[in-house]
Amino acid sequence: MSDTKNQGLEGVVAATTRLSSVDGEAGELLIAGFPVEELAPRASFEETAWLLWNGNLPTADELAAFRRCLAGRRNLPAATLELLRSAAKRQVPTMDALRMAAGTLSLVEGGGDPKEDAVTLVAAFPTIVAAYWRLVKGEEPLERREDLGHAASFLYMLSGEEPSMERERGLETYLNTVSDHGFNASTFTARVIVSTRSDLISAITGAVGALKGPLHGGAPGPALDMVFEIGAPERAELVLREKLARGERLMGFGHRVYRVRDPRADVLAAAAERFYRNGGDMRLYELARSVEATALRLLREAKPDRRLDTNVEFYTALLLHGLGLPTALFTPIFAVARVAGWTAHALEQLETGRLIRPQSEYVGEKGRRWVAVEEREALTAAVGSAC
Ligand code: COA
Repeated sequence: MSDTKNQGLEGVVAATTRLSSVDGEAGELLIAGFPVEELAPRASFEETAWLLWNGNLPTADELAAFRRCLAGRRNLPAATLELLRSAAKRQVPTMDALRMAAGTLSLVEGGGDPKEDAVTLVAAFPTIVAAYWRLVKGEEPLERREDLGHAASFLYMLSGEEPSMERERGLETYLNTVSDHGFNASTFTARVIVSTRSDLISAITGAVGALKGPLHGGAPGPALDMVFEIGAPERAELVLREKLARGERLMGFGHRVYRVRDPRADVLAAAAERFYRNGGDMRLYELARSVEATALRLLREAKPDRRLDTNVEFYTALLLHGLGLPTALFTPIFAVARVAGWTAHALEQLETGRLIRPQSEYVGEKGRRWVAVEEREALTAAVGSAC
């Protein structure tokens, strides 16, 4: 059982879920039954969160009440702001600040009830990210605006400017697109934590840590850096060939589950194209398309047995950049979206799940005998020798 596939739990079904279905062979993603391309460009983020938590789209009255409820929970506890100020002084990366601040949401009054904690987490994540970003830049966090929707208020809290309808729609399309995606590593982390009957704040704090890694949520920044590094379509082949020759992975390509193009890439490519055509930098958009085409050709050449296609991160980078959002915030904004899916999974796990407790295959030594300290021989690269 020690082959690489099982070490990554590939193909192992660990729970049932009604939240999202990922068909990696067909390239299909359903979010609570809706194809992602049907839902993402139309829904508000509040509708998507409601759908994930409740299984159905809200009525007009339910939606209005839910919008008010989320907007009313945007404020952060004083201790959370204090922590963000200390983190900003040390210029801690935003994902680390978000993870630390997520843990402090246990201080919110009425906490401990899973559904209440879910609302608190979804409402507070944009405030944490926006407040921290302003503090890092030496600016004061902005007061929340209850009259704006979830996505628009996030954009407002970052810059102090009310966003255009197009920017709001662009961000909502992104947030909806990545709101949930089966049993990815961070969602699994959240479900494992809550499967012990731990609380939602702990589960989502752990999930933020899992999302941070470049093999999961950390790829869009490097994907955009790669496009900028290439700079002109005629340089794409040279730069990408060099990267592959050095054994580097091309960021924004390949996926553990999809063996065809990630359907989210199409939704975000369409959203990016709409946005860039509407007054954006079309040259950058065209450059990205050409980098994508070259990367796909070279990956097919380099890995003929492995279908490596465009994943969600490539067009995430292009869309978020087009919306004027800084690269350093790409992964935190992913978390602002995915917290809806994480909390929905945590609630589902609490309702239906069993303790998640897989097994490991022991490959270490057996039957060892104790040697007194004065008789032990030193190892050359002992763990702890840095102390
Ligand atoms: N660029 C170049 N080679 C890649 C690659 C990429 N983006 N993705 C996978 N490969 C190669 C691997 O090096 C491996 O080659 P090998 O068999 O010679 O060792 C082979 O393809 C299979 O890769 P594997 O590690 O089994 O894929 P995985 O399912 O474990 O990994 C990802 C999936 C997403 C981690 C991987 O494709 C990757 O690192 N992509 C770049 C980062 C990224 O875009 N992440 C965002 C994911 S949404």
